[in-house]
Formats: sequence, C-alpha cells, structure tokens
Amino acid sequence: APERKVAVLGAAGGIGQTLSLLMKMSPSVTKLSLYDIVNTPGVAADCSHVNTGAQVTGHVGADQLDDALKGCDVVVIPAGVPRKPGMTRDDLFAINAGIVAGLVDGVARNCPEALITMISNPVNSTVPIAAEVLKKHGVYNPKKLFGVTTLDVVRAKTFYAEKNGLDVNTVDVPVVGGHAGITILPLFSQATPSAQMDQETIEALTVRTQNGGTEVVEAKAGKGSATLSMAYAGALFADAALRGLNGVQDVVECTYVESSVTDVPFFSSKVKLGPEGVSEIYGLGDLTDYEKDALDKMMPELQASIDKGIDFVKNM
Ligand code: APR
Repeated sequence: APERKVAVLGAAGGIGQTLSLLMKMSPSVTKLSLYDIVNTPGVAADCSHVNTGAQVTGHVGADQLDDALKGCDVVVIPAGVPRKPGMTRDDLFAINAGIVAGLVDGVARNCPEALITMISNPVNSTVPIAAEVLKKHGVYNPKKLFGVTTLDVVRAKTFYAEKNGLDVNTVDVPVVGGHAGITILPLFSQATPSAQMDQETIEALTVRTQNGGTEVVEAKAGKGSATLSMAYAGALFADAALRGLNGVQDVVECTYVESSVTDVPFFSSKVKLGPEGVSEIYGLGDLTDYEKDALDKMMPELQASIDKGIDFVKNM
C-alpha cells in the first residue's frame, strides 16, 4: 500500500483520542500526525506504543500546526468545544466556527490537496465555513471536503437491526440531509435487507436516529456528548476515504458534500469515493411520501445553517 499521512486536529479531546487510536490501528495509515492546543505530546507517546505500522508524531500549539499538516493526504477535524452550561448555541457556533476556520487555513497553506473530513459541530455550518476558507486561498476542491455524517448511519443501522432482529453486520440504511435534528433523514424504505415496519415504527426509529446525540448527552448527565461512537464513525469514514484514495475498490458512503441533489448547496447522500475524492454523487432514489415530506421540512433549516457558515467567513 502507498505511504499515507493522516492528521487528527483536536487529537487530545474525547473524540480525538479514541479516533487517534483507531487511526493507529488502520492498515492504510503509515504516518499519523496528532495535533491539539494541549496534551498532544502525551497522547502521541501513548499512541506510539501500540505495535502497528503507523509512525506517530505529536504537535502542540499553533506554532506546530504547519509541521502537523505538511504532506498530509487526509485531515480529520474533531477540534472544538462541546456545549457548556450557560453557553448559548450561538456562543458555541462562534467558538467552533473560529477554531475550524483557523485549522482549515492551515490545511490550505500546508496540504491543499488533502481530503478534509469534518467532525466539529455544527457540521451543517462548519463544512461551508471550510469551503469558504479554502476558496479564499484559491484551493477549494468540492470533491475533497466532507462532513462526517457516518454516526447517523451507524445509529440508524444499529436501531434498525435491533428493532427487526437482523444481524447488524449485514444491514445498510442510507441517511441523507444534514447532521443535526430534523435535517437527519434515514431512508428506511431503502434499508437492506428490507423489513416490514409500520408507519409508527418508522417514525420512532427516525426520531431516535435524529435524537441519538441527545440520548447520549442525557445518559452522560452533564459529563459530555458522544465520543466513542463518534470516533468509531469518524475512523470508519477516514478509512473509506483512504481506500478510495488508494483506488483498491469502489467505496460508497453517505457523506455531507457540495451537492446539486436538492436545492441546498451542501447535502449528505450516497457518494462514490475514488483517488481524487468524490467521483460520483448519487440521487435519492424512490422516496415514500413520509420521506418526501421530511425532506421538504428540513430544507429551510439546512439552508439557514449553510448561510450562517458562509456569512461567518464573509464577516471575518
Ligand atoms: N486547535 C486544535 N484543537 C483544539 C482547538 C484548536 N484551535 N481548540 C480546541 N481544541 C481541542 C481541545 O483542546 C480538545 O482537546 O479540541 C478538543 C475537543 O475535545 P473535547 O472538548 O473533549 O470535545 P469532544 O467531545 O471531543 O467534541 C469535539 O466534535 O462532535 C463535535 O460537537 C463536538 O464540536 C465538538 C467536537
């Protein structure tokens, strides 16, 4: 397999540490660069003892961002702050938007050809932010920028398999739209293997998928949000992107990209990943009336989140 360097930005966080371990275990990764504003020397030393092939380096603080990014093929971004008591959604947006813009600026300067997989929330807005920052540098390639919506797919598969008594290893559920609340739409009518579910069950599974993040926040009772499942999903997607880069097989994943599948400019649907990033974006297929209605209902919120991201960069 070719040499592949992957950077994790925000590697000392709840998501970042687990994701770093999973990337260290990936057979596709030969160099693993761990960056954060705190604690990365320790995380990197710890991770480096795992007896797999990837060579680990740790980089701490803004001065070391360039080193962390030079020569990267894939950059995974789980940096940010989770919501704290007393913080409004707008406060959180402003902080994470600024963090993401700064990190993507580093990508534009050091590894403009890299695939960027964005985990920092709100993904519906941070991906358009990244696009605008890359455009400012004249290096935006819409085929190489992704919002990681894989956790929504992972959850939909788990809940669908559980409900229908299916082997979770064999099920697939496409999930389209965005990565927050009602913008998340699992297409259970296209799930495989197909199972008969009444409308009430479909709606319950849809809502559970949409509220999966809240389910974890409540269970953690003030001590954080999803980290293990998010890291797992982030690593699944990064691995798929690397397999695409290496051109070993057709790789198809649901992910949030610049898109003309609907009227909003960024949208998650099934895409094919290849040596240049996205090689094909698939349409939505046949939708049920319930799915069509849910799609119509999410559009204003998704468009507003995209506009908010674009405006943030315009006003920087
Ligand atoms: N550059 C790099 N890393 C940063 C920066 C920055 N400018 N600012 C913060 N970080 C790091 C923090 O130091 C911390 O190690 O990001 C990490 C975030 O980790 P946690 O606080 O544990 O948050 P986590 O639960 O991992 O979530 C991170 O992902 O899903 C999203 O909503 C979530 O936006 C949040 C992000």
